[in-house]
Amino acid sequence: MIEGRFISLEGGEGTGKSTQAKALANALGKRGLAVCLTREPGGTPGAEIIRELLLTGGDDKWDLRTEALLFAAARAEHCAKLIRPALARGEWIICDRFVDSSRAYQSVSGELRDAEIMQLHQVGSKGLMPDRTFVLDLPETVASKRATARDRGDSDRIGSRDSDYHRAVMANFRQFAIDDPKRVRLIDARHSAEAITDKLFENIDDLLS
Ligand code: TYD
Repeated sequence: MIEGRFISLEGGEGTGKSTQAKALANALGKRGLAVCLTREPGGTPGAEIIRELLLTGGDDKWDLRTEALLFAAARAEHCAKLIRPALARGEWIICDRFVDSSRAYQSVSGELRDAEIMQLHQVGSKGLMPDRTFVLDLPETVASKRATARDRGDSDRIGSRDSDYHRAVMANFRQFAIDDPKRVRLIDARHSAEAITDKLFENIDDLLS
């Protein structure tokens, strides 16, 4: 049986992940591949309910450990009900954020180590990892301007954390690309949307053959 491929897009807010996820899904679809475009937190009815719990309210609504568990729970639901079945049918999954977001964001406080976040992922989602992960890289000042323009001052519970937090998140993402260059590719997101999509394609050539 043909196994599908799993691609995740990662990065801070305002880096263009959603635009690129759509562009990549369209382009793969035009090549005749079955594509499933999805996002985290969310992607299934249950996980979307958890998304709402996570992203609304004040910064101190959840203890940081609870927050990490909720992201892992949403992901477990997403993997079990949508991602694994689609991969088993031979589809390509394009996912706007996945476990690297938990590793980048939920580790910033220092409350949880990377290995602990991966343990939650092991328990919840049997450690499922993407075949390729793109980190869209923008200087934090550029990304935050774009995110502010998009959200018109109404950013979500995590997006509204301060610039030091978001700088630390971006530094974590860059480190993943250094630690695991086979899976995680850092993409300079200062180029045009079309140029970035071309770059993503160059970086999945091995998965297409
Ligand atoms: P998203 O809607 O993708 O935000 P944006 O479009 O602004 O990038 O993600 C929602 C927020 O949740 C975003 O601030 C990142 C955060 N997040 C985590 O902190 N941990 C996670 O595991 C995931 C998936 C998202």
